[in-house]
Amino acid sequence: MDENVLEMVDIVKVFPGVIANDRVNFSLKAGEIHALLGENGAGKTTLMNILYGIYRMDSGVIKVDGRKVTIRSPRDAIKLGIGMVHQNFKLIPAHTVVENVILGSEKNGFILDLKKSGEEIKNLASSFGLKVDPFSEVWKLSMGERQRVEILKLLYKNVRIMILDEPTAVLTPQEKRELFSSLREMSSKGKSIIFITHKLDEVLEISDRVTVLRRGKNVATKVTKETNKIELANLMIGRPIIFEYSKNPQKLSGLVLKVENVRVLDEEGNVRLKGVSFSLNGGEIVGVAGIAGNGQKELAEAITGLKRVSSGKIFVRGKDLTNASPKKFFDNGVLFIPEERLGVGTAPNLSIAENLILKSYDNKLFSGPVFLNFDAIQKFAEKLVKDFEILCSSVNVPVKFLSGGNLQKVVLARELGNIINNAGGNVIVAMYPTRGLDVGATEYVRKLFLKMRDEGNAIIFFSEDLEEILSISDRVFVMFDGRIVGEIDSSEADVEKIGLMMAGSVAS
Ligand SMILES: Nc1ncnc2c1ncn2[C@@H]1O[C@H](COP(=O)(O)OP(=O)(O)OP(=O)(O)O)[C@@H](O)[C@H]1O
Ligand SMILES: [Mg+2]
Repeated sequence: MDENVLEMVDIVKVFPGVIANDRVNFSLKAGEIHALLGENGAGKTTLMNILYGIYRMDSGVIKVDGRKVTIRSPRDAIKLGIGMVHQNFKLIPAHTVVENVILGSEKNGFILDLKKSGEEIKNLASSFGLKVDPFSEVWKLSMGERQRVEILKLLYKNVRIMILDEPTAVLTPQEKRELFSSLREMSSKGKSIIFITHKLDEVLEISDRVTVLRRGKNVATKVTKETNKIELANLMIGRPIIFEYSKNPQKLSGLVLKVENVRVLDEEGNVRLKGVSFSLNGGEIVGVAGIAGNGQKELAEAITGLKRVSSGKIFVRGKDLTNASPKKFFDNGVLFIPEERLGVGTAPNLSIAENLILKSYDNKLFSGPVFLNFDAIQKFAEKLVKDFEILCSSVNVPVKFLSGGNLQKVVLARELGNIINNAGGNVIVAMYPTRGLDVGATEYVRKLFLKMRDEGNAIIFFSEDLEEILSISDRVFVMFDGRIVGEIDSSEADVEKIGLMMAGSVAS
């Protein structure tokens, strides 16, 4: 089965100021799972948007089953059997699964027999091991379930080349395992899958071959079995990468945060945080594991002053800050990296430099007696761009032109840039700090956390990525249903056990 179902030859796509795809070649075999690996801004989404008819290439050739094709729209792509699941799903929340799946499908003509279609979809779903209730409304579904609906939509249209753009970014470890087993099922039934990612472990786990893009060029295509994590990282980044973080021995510098029996209600009066207590010391990193929606957001917001607590106490370095304002928390050295970094995070038309100082405009470093000190701003921005490896032609380009991951980096650089030079004793509260970041930027953030820890700060971060939690934490908390259900020393942590706690099936 060595026939190529798809060939992309010498694909070129230029955006103002960047060559997003610079003579890229890519081929796909029937039944193959082919990973498309690359750092933020490498050109992965662009290449696939070309294949799916969203962007027009400037030059190049696309062949399907050996025949040259022209793809001008997603409709053209679907007709050729090519489908794409974007990173941000486009389902209609008020509709049911069936309605979403058959919407836009030509099978149904005008008459919709929802019950019959529902059965059909159920069968289709179960034949690929995709668990979904066809009659559920989409707004009720988890991100994992929504993704399955997106995949079903394509299977229903009989797509045989399926493009998934960073599909695991929104999944829990369990959901990821389920997705992978469905992908294997699809490939065994002859479907070809293009799997976009910048996570090396996923490439090694799921793909048959891997194509690596770097700065718009393809640097290699490898048979997955014949490569390894170190080689792939090197190809992707162009330099070696650390996977094992050497942690300095811990030097605890006293209690900085004490949380006592804190409860938080949501707008409807439901209890979201059901009595949480813990202490944090300077010089330690605590990773909080848990499936999103089990109180992590409420906890993070309670200890940064963003959410009122209905009972309980919060002390920062002995000072009672229960229900104080976010500014008060900030002034007492409690710093927050929120989850929603994009929506609230950036001003699209402002430059990278301007975005980087959005929050620190009153910082003495940048303001002279009357004017902002542009020189200082420029230097500050250039340093952050370098540290976080933000891919851009200059710090003066508007952030709206950045790739998804590079935009993430700008916001994170801004949040962390303000605290990099602090002297210790702070509490840093970070939600999913490396989500959407590539290996290089992830490494930088983790090293920065370790450095801040060694300088005597306390760091508490929330993540769904157990590997991440175990790689840098000193202690691990597991949250489930509004409580901390487990506390484990990371040197004794066991991934399977934490996974079960996350699902609520084991008490510590
Ligand atoms: N519509 C656009 N207008 C201008 N520049 C763009 C546009 N889309 C992408 N680019 C640029 O093309 C380059 C490649 O972007 P692309 O989105 O393909 O990267 P990616 O590999 O998918 O990265 P990520 O992992 O961050 O999603 C980036 O430098 C990006 O800024
Ligand atoms: Mg992308």
